[in-house]
Amino acid sequence: MTDPVFQRCINPDCAATAGVDETAFQCPRCGGLMDVAYDWDRLPPPKSLRDFEAKWSRRTDPLSFSGVWRFRELLPFAAPEQILTVGEGQTILQRADTVAGFVGLEPGRLFLQYEGMNPSGSFKDNGMTAAFTHARIAGARRAACASTGNTSASLAVFCSATGLMRGIVFIGSGKISYGKLAQALDHGALTVQIAGDFDDAMQRVQQVARKLGIYLVNSVNPFRLEGQKTIMYRVLEALAWEPPDWIVVPGGNLGNCSAFGKAYLELAELGLVKQVPRLAVINAAGANTFYQLTERQGLRWNGGRPDNARSEAYFRGLAAGNLRASTIASAIEINLPVNLPKALRALEKMNGVVREASDQEMLDAKAKVGAGGFGCEPASAASVAGARKLRAEGVIGKDERVVCILTGHQLKDPTATVAYHSADQKTFDEVLGSRGVRRATYANRAVQVPNNLDEIIKAIEVYS
Ligand code: F0G
Repeated sequence: MTDPVFQRCINPDCAATAGVDETAFQCPRCGGLMDVAYDWDRLPPPKSLRDFEAKWSRRTDPLSFSGVWRFRELLPFAAPEQILTVGEGQTILQRADTVAGFVGLEPGRLFLQYEGMNPSGSFKDNGMTAAFTHARIAGARRAACASTGNTSASLAVFCSATGLMRGIVFIGSGKISYGKLAQALDHGALTVQIAGDFDDAMQRVQQVARKLGIYLVNSVNPFRLEGQKTIMYRVLEALAWEPPDWIVVPGGNLGNCSAFGKAYLELAELGLVKQVPRLAVINAAGANTFYQLTERQGLRWNGGRPDNARSEAYFRGLAAGNLRASTIASAIEINLPVNLPKALRALEKMNGVVREASDQEMLDAKAKVGAGGFGCEPASAASVAGARKLRAEGVIGKDERVVCILTGHQLKDPTATVAYHSADQKTFDEVLGSRGVRRATYANRAVQVPNNLDEIIKAIEVYS
């Protein structure tokens, strides 16, 4: 009898399998991406999503408290005693009417999912708890990732909080914001700054992990994506299990949107949802591979047979012209997304679309999120900027229910935020002007006043 949990190549013509303990994270036959697959007959899922509500009263049980593991029946690859949790996934879905106005939606129609409220300040903790759990099952002593900053912060937190593994993070030189670099350093990860960008670091970390037998926690690791499926479960939970019309998410390495696609694929297969929301993936305009390939060149999953020659030609063109990703949204400054095929599958299953947002559009959207809610980092605001664009195009209707995923915390990148709101033209030009950002339409500038009581009172009366 085979194991009820295994890994399986996503290419339906190959569908080679590997054991659940395997850590190569590529198909042993064709080298493609792997899924974590379940034999649901032997791992019975809940009959209804409402069954999960029983966990709400068990706050002192860490596996019921975790926003990831309270859904463990939908990612049943680890026994409860094997699971490593740091209390991830206590995130909030907020109705955001002011931001809805900016997007062009009726009040009550826009919701923001704040994944920045995770312990390391980004959605990565959802996936890291799952990857870390798998790493422990596999007996790993060292875990590594390439990162634009958030994966490395998350890995560093899991290593420091559990003391179980040495974390090694590969980052591009000058490519990560200070908030994130600070986390990797403070939590004691071995931080390797590569003279190159994220795409270089990603290639190198895969080579190094293979050579040295280090456990890889980037999103080519399918266990990461199992954890990230739970973002969709929490959105459903917050909407009383009624799927929204749209899920809008930034796209970088395309792990998150791939995980969302798998979540809904399984929920639909298991008969746990009646309808599947549409998916919108938003690239930064300066790192828009997914947009170019899908919307401009018509690349599709095509039932598992995408036109690989097309994407390969595109990547050859990037290499030949030394065309590097470039955006203020450093989290998604990625030209070679490792999860491209899975993301194509997600688009097909969720009737998805892809758009790009400029640095100007992302920063304006970010300021609106900050003024109308809890705040986010620049890359996260791609979702709001993208929703606004899709609304203007009429792709999203004004009565539709839209959930924008805010992937990272506002304090991850204070440099971009302060430059946007700064009254100092030099600061603005240095940080943002160089990126083609011309205006700070929604800036909230600090008021300069002499150290004099009358002047201070006068300023407050004038401005408030
Ligand atoms: N938003 C934030 C804040 C991110 O950090 C990332 C990815 C994304 C969106 C894109 O998600 O890669 O699943 O499409 N950050 C990775 C990192 C690459 O290294 O932290 P994706």
